[in-house]
Amino acid sequence: MRPIIIAVDGPAGSGKSSVCKGCAEKLGWRYLDTGAMYRAMTWAVLEAGIDPLNIDSVIAFAKTINIMSGLDPQSPSIHVDGKDVSGSIREARVTDSVSAVSAIPQIRELLVQQQRDEARKALQSGTGIVVEGRDITTVVLPNAQLKVFLTASAEVRALRRAKEEAGAAFASQQAVTETQIALQRRDHLDSTRAASPLKQAPDASEIDTSDLTLAEVIQEVVNRAQAVTQ
Ligand code: DC
Repeated sequence: MRPIIIAVDGPAGSGKSSVCKGCAEKLGWRYLDTGAMYRAMTWAVLEAGIDPLNIDSVIAFAKTINIMSGLDPQSPSIHVDGKDVSGSIREARVTDSVSAVSAIPQIRELLVQQQRDEARKALQSGTGIVVEGRDITTVVLPNAQLKVFLTASAEVRALRRAKEEAGAAFASQQAVTETQIALQRRDHLDSTRAASPLKQAPDASEIDTSDLTLAEVIQEVVNRAQAVTQ
C-alpha cells in the first residue's frame, strides 16, 4: 500500500494504542504514541520535583530536556535524556498529573513540532506512520490522508482500562467503577481545556469499538486506509 499518515484520536480506553500498534505492525509502518510524550514530560517534571501546576517552571524545565519516541510498533519505547521511561510513564502519579501538564499551550507547541517532524520523516523515507492522540486529526496532522476517531461506551472503556491496570483478563466491579470515575475526570479535563481539546474532526471517520474485537477494528482501519490510497 502507498505510505500515508493515519491519524487516530479518541478518549482513554477507546482502544487507540492496541489498534494503532496493530495497524502499524500489519502494514510494516511506524507508530507514534503522542500520549506517551505528554506522559514522559509529566514524569520528568515530577522527577525534577517541579509542581505540575507551576506553569512557568514547567515551561522553563521542558525546554531543557530531550524526549525521544521509539517508533517500532513491536516495541514502542520512550526516553527522557537517554533514560528509558516506558514503564515509569504509566505510574498513577503520572496519570494523575498528565492532564495539567498537557493543558499548557507551550508544552503542546514543543511536542507537536516533534510529532509533525516524525510524520514528515516517515513519509520522506518512504514509509507510512500511524499517529495516536487527542488532537492529531484536528491540530497536529489535519491533512493526514486517513483520520479516524475511535469511541467506545464508558463502561467498555473502564472495563478495558481496569483489566489493563490489573494485568489480568478480569477486573473486580469495584476496580471498574473506580476506573470509570478516573476516566471520566480525565476525559472531562482533556475535552474542556482551552488548548487543543479532544474533539472529533468533522472529516474523521468514527469507529465505535464497543462490540468489536481488536482484530476487527485493526482490519477496519486497514480497509479504510486501503480505500483512501486507491
Ligand atoms: O493516551 P494517554 O492516556 O496515554 O494520554 C495521556 C494524556 O496525554 C491524556 O490524558 C491527554 C494527553 N494527550 C494530549 O493532550 N494530546 C495528545 N495528542 C495525546 C495525549
